Amino acid sequence: MLFHYYMIKHINKYNDKNVMWHFYRINREDRERLHQHRSMILWFTGLSGSGKSTLASILEEKLYCRGVSTYSLDGDNIRHGLCKDLSFNSNDRSENIRRVGEVARLMVDAGLVVLVALISPYRIDRQIIRDMCIKDSFLEIFVDTPMLICKQRDPKGLYHQVDCKKIKNFTGIDSIYERPKQPDIYLDGRKTISELMNQLLDLVLVKIFK
Ligand SMILES: Nc1ncnc2c1ncn2[C@@H]1O[C@H](COP(=O)(O)OP(=O)(O)O)[C@@H](O)[C@H]1O
Ligand SMILES: [Mg+2]
Repeated sequence: MLFHYYMIKHINKYNDKNVMWHFYRINREDRERLHQHRSMILWFTGLSGSGKSTLASILEEKLYCRGVSTYSLDGDNIRHGLCKDLSFNSNDRSENIRRVGEVARLMVDAGLVVLVALISPYRIDRQIIRDMCIKDSFLEIFVDTPMLICKQRDPKGLYHQVDCKKIKNFTGIDSIYERPKQPDIYLDGRKTISELMNQLLDLVLVKIFK
């Protein structure tokens, strides 16, 4: 019901009187029954190079093998299409998150477990997505990897380019990253990938098959 409330409240700002919500006969609960698991957003946040995409990808594979219907929305991939018109200034970063959040929410309505791997540096943007989700269908997963380690990994050479002053507005360097205060799942990015996966998979399975 919260979802419908949100939709009615946030009606199209250009045509607010005439655009109304049409209730379809099949809803999220029906689709969850079909998929035989709960649908939700698993939102990975953390610095560039912290391990978000790596962990999301392995987790998705493990869920897939257990019969979970998934989809992944990766920050880098999304910027090739849906968000390719956006820059990295703070407004566009917020818009980037808003769009991904809306798409993720549609996918939750479709009955999927949606893995989002996005730096998502601002607390308020993550909170907005949480608030528009139905209770317990948004899990914030904080991949907490120290900047020094991210810099050492630097698989895409981005930190190197920042050092050479070729990239501006880089999160953690000249653009802020607001750490989650109370993430649903905290991952210490200094641990090995398999340690983190063991921790993550159990916590997520409990939520999906609750
Ligand atoms: N826990 C970990 N331990 C060691 N290396 C890791 C770990 N997690 C990720 N990596 C490596 O760090 C690099 C960055 O990971 P990636 O998932 O691309 O980060 P992000 O998506 O957060 O930018 C990759 O080369 C990946 O293999
Ligand atoms: Mg990534």
